[in-house]
Amino acid sequence: MAHNSNNRLEEDEPDGLSVVVDGVLFPKHFLTNRTMKEQLDCIRALEMREDDVIICAFPKSGTHWLWEVSCMLLTGKAEYETRAKEQVMLEAAQIQAVEQMTSPRVLNTHVPASMLPKQVKDKRVKVIHVYRNVKDVFTSLYFHFKQHPKREHLTLESLFTQSYFSPNNYNGNYFASLKTMDSFIKDNPDIPVFNVSFEDTKKDPVNTVSRLGEFLGVEASPELCADIARATSFSNMQQADTNKHHPQHMPPVRIYRKGEVGDWTNHLTVAQSERLDMDMKKLKGCSFSFTYTL
Ligand code: A3P
Repeated sequence: MAHNSNNRLEEDEPDGLSVVVDGVLFPKHFLTNRTMKEQLDCIRALEMREDDVIICAFPKSGTHWLWEVSCMLLTGKAEYETRAKEQVMLEAAQIQAVEQMTSPRVLNTHVPASMLPKQVKDKRVKVIHVYRNVKDVFTSLYFHFKQHPKREHLTLESLFTQSYFSPNNYNGNYFASLKTMDSFIKDNPDIPVFNVSFEDTKKDPVNTVSRLGEFLGVEASPELCADIARATSFSNMQQADTNKHHPQHMPPVRIYRKGEVGDWTNHLTVAQSERLDMDMKKLKGCSFSFTYTL
């Protein structure tokens, strides 16, 4: 446990895999040459540019997908970024490398909106908020965690009872994270935010690409939108991932698992599903609409 200058608390989790800062849990393997507290300070202080775009999402909501779509729209070509999304994920990135990137930068992060760079507000940086129904997020997170050798015995039930969905948990808890984003949007009407759900994108990818192009101020022809939607289909992105330059400090993980809406019906018990329905009441009043099956 370490106290720092402004008295924020950084604490190791007993499993040795995670670190908690200000009640938000981060994987330890995100750490580069800084403590997570220092990294979060660097994120807050990061100099933003007017033409930056930042994808914000709770983990497993479709961040990779919308990041690749956004990169393609801004280059005007249905060609994959050579860098991996993790290289520009603020909490795991070499901040110096982010500072040296050419514009326009498409950044991404899972940190709660309260931990975003301060200048997102001042410079009215475009924010793309990606969200997904909690049952598929939970299922996807479970399979993601289970890839770690130290978590091979993890069960869905134990994930329920562990910290991941309790207040002190992964990237600030799904419900808290969405609530914080909802407040951030309502409190900052000047910041351009594009809310997009995994499910809408899955249902009509060309439509999402086209609407996102408009939001980004890009003139994307119907042909380009169709090409981008095709290039960013699940199977094509899964294939393209093998050619990406992944950051060396991050252990290789399988991101492209199934890519479906409603896979939770194959894994959650009725009781677990009902528990998440109950928890969803915490998001009453939020302006996001959730779809659980297509
Ligand atoms: P599953 O585990 O359900 O397959 P994130 O990028 O936020 O970490 O989210 C990862 C989830 O998005 C994974 O979900 C992954 O398969 C899915 N995904 C990524 N790209 C996708 C795409 N092009 N189409 C559909 N799903 C995609």
